[in-house]
Amino acid sequence: MSGSALVARARELVRGASSVLVLTGAGVSAESGVPTFRGEGGLWRSHRPEDLATPEAFHRDPRLVWEWYGWRRDLVSRCAPNPGHRALARLALGRSGVTLVTQNVDGLHEVAAHEESGGSACGAALPLELHGSLFRVRCTRCGARAADRAPIDATSAGSLPRCADCGGLLRPDIVWFGESLDPFVIEAAVRAAEEAEVCLVAGTSALVHPAASLPLVTARSGGQVVEVNPDPTPLTAVAAVSLRATSGEMLPLLLD
Ligand code: OAD
Repeated sequence: MSGSALVARARELVRGASSVLVLTGAGVSAESGVPTFRGEGGLWRSHRPEDLATPEAFHRDPRLVWEWYGWRRDLVSRCAPNPGHRALARLALGRSGVTLVTQNVDGLHEVAAHEESGGSACGAALPLELHGSLFRVRCTRCGARAADRAPIDATSAGSLPRCADCGGLLRPDIVWFGESLDPFVIEAAVRAAEEAEVCLVAGTSALVHPAASLPLVTARSGGQVVEVNPDPTPLTAVAAVSLRATSGEMLPLLLD
């Protein structure tokens, strides 16, 4: 099939589906200037996850871990949604039956949802955040969660953010290696994957489970998988259509 025939086939699949699960990964934010994890310039090319993204790393050196998450929070705060985020927000706002699930912690789907809905009702376009958020914190003592967009002062152990309720040390509300996903979030995502007639996957290497299993759940339940990624992934073999393009270019073409 030619490139345009593939796009037409993918459009037909998404349009014809009464339920659509969208799964996104770091590639969707690449055109906004947010680094991915595994590609060229990816975060895991220059940083070791075991030093920065495990509960043991935080226990060993909370200052170092907060310094890194503070840097990422600052970087992402200066990024804006790209045409891919916007097309997904319009899809979710414009029709019923769309569930948006992301592995990203950058909050850019939410910003796009607010912008595309004019700041009004944008609930349907708010994603299930499988891996947490750079803009939420969780108390290591009492477990309280809170939204938090403030710059992080990681100059010393004493300057790290503290819980407003109990004074305990706060940590990023991110799912680290070796930790489980929030059961409510992953259960809702699996349910949406089972019910989806189409799973549209964009910008993920599909190497991290359980997120990468969601399109397989859809395929096993009789649904179709549509992939948008400049490179092949383990999901390419199960995809009805794989579109080799960036999400900022392809998603508006596919969805608008
Ligand atoms: P990766 O960095 O593993 O993969 C990014 C994917 O995006 C690759 O397949 C690229 O080919 C693709 N890509 C790059 N630029 C793109 C673009 N402009 N448009 C579309 N696709 C593009 O990121 P994830 O798959 O999201 O977890 O990684 C999954 C998880 O691993 C992350 O959530 C993170 C990481 O460890 C945690 O931190 C818990």
